[in-house]
Amino acid sequence: MPRSRTNSSPVSELAIELDRDDGEALHRQVEVSIRERIRSGALPAGIALPPTRALAAELRVTRGVVVEAYAQLVAEGYLTSRGGGYTHVSPTATVAPAATAPPPPTRSAAADPIVDFGYGRANLAAFPRAAWLRSVRRVLTETPDERLGYLDGRGAIELRTALAAYLNRVRGTNATAETIVITNGYAQAVSLLLGVLAAEGGATVAVEDPSASDDARPIADALGMKVVGVPVGDDGVRVDALADLDADALILTPSHQWPTGGVLSPAARAEVLAWSQRTGALVLEDDYDAEYRYDRAPIGAIQGLGPDRVAYAGTASKTLAPGFRLGWIVLPPRLVQPFAEAKLLADRGSPILDQLTFADFLSRGEFDRHLRRMRPIYRSRRDALLAALAEHLPELEPAGIAAGLHLVAWLPDDLDEATVIAAAAREGVAVAGVSPYRLSPAPRGGLVFGYSNLEERQIADGVERLARAIAGGP
Ligand SMILES: Cc1ncc(COP(=O)(O)O)c(C=O)c1O
Repeated sequence: MPRSRTNSSPVSELAIELDRDDGEALHRQVEVSIRERIRSGALPAGIALPPTRALAAELRVTRGVVVEAYAQLVAEGYLTSRGGGYTHVSPTATVAPAATAPPPPTRSAAADPIVDFGYGRANLAAFPRAAWLRSVRRVLTETPDERLGYLDGRGAIELRTALAAYLNRVRGTNATAETIVITNGYAQAVSLLLGVLAAEGGATVAVEDPSASDDARPIADALGMKVVGVPVGDDGVRVDALADLDADALILTPSHQWPTGGVLSPAARAEVLAWSQRTGALVLEDDYDAEYRYDRAPIGAIQGLGPDRVAYAGTASKTLAPGFRLGWIVLPPRLVQPFAEAKLLADRGSPILDQLTFADFLSRGEFDRHLRRMRPIYRSRRDALLAALAEHLPELEPAGIAAGLHLVAWLPDDLDEATVIAAAAREGVAVAGVSPYRLSPAPRGGLVFGYSNLEERQIADGVERLARAIAGGP
């Protein structure tokens, strides 16, 4: 039920279009237009219509025209009018079925797992609301009016400056405010970058195999670019496969391969750069979860070693919230201008208040504080997962455990990935397989466990259920 707005002030405009050459009386046209809006739900029950004098002035008709239209609709029950007050849409006005609010989605029991190891479910309950609110307040109080106007395509200078300092310090990038562009997350960064490369004549994009299947690949397809896979080994992309690789861009997750978790060694990083220098191809470094590193030494971004050859993309999706749609890309200088133009064309720039708030949050050290608070939480969740797997499913082989918010557990040869996932679902456990992310089939199955949004006891329960599901057979 729409909330009654009987006491609210009237809507100020109705944007009714009158056709003075139509021959139909003007009061009839006003009446028909309002009736249709009530029926479609555009004018909800309880809403107050403009006073007759105001609407008449807006439509440039005599007041009598509006009075007559309202009177007819009152007579039909669409409007209610009490002497002296506003005319309202009647609480019982008929609304066409198509315009009613859709019923809330109902989910079957099978779609509601008891334990969901779904990847990408950041710990939204841990969002630093109080600190963020302080930054919002400061920004709203201090931002001069003129900063609320249209933006340039690169993003707020405050955020680009704060990010350059942060990324150079924490990720070893070689970034300046001039080489950073703010995006709506990684998804937009990769989309715009591939668009720029395609416009320059780029025809082939290389991606890791396996890799995420919902960003670069469909975008490249839509741009008419060919997608080729480069195999991934235990330590990230297999650089021996680069020898014959002919591509305009290579998209990598070198700090924590997605999904298998391998880390590209310093020697392999150097080989990637050498390949890029030899072929003239661009490397896109997707540094999606580098902030979370547990028991390994920090590994700097490849971009820091080759800022002319590498574009570095980061996101707030894993550290703050995916719904923010806030990301950044550090570009080789020659690509900044075309990329910023593409960004401006795509959406006229990311929302300024979010950018300024994040800049404040970063430069006051709140982001570092938030990460310091989150790391031990995620580490103990990962440890709980590893302990439960070791106890209940020792035949699974965890990989990529040293960083991030997920891990892969490889299945033994006698366990089929799809069968295990289906059995797990019957025990109330949602877990994804590695196969959907592959470009070419591989014999070994694996499960992707996201653990960031589950408490330790839920993790233990989920693994016990999974073990029961596997023991139960197909
Ligand atoms: C491999 C990879 N890159 C990047 C991202 C972040 O994407 P976005 O910033 O568009 O939310 C994700 C999110 O899950 C991811 O899995």
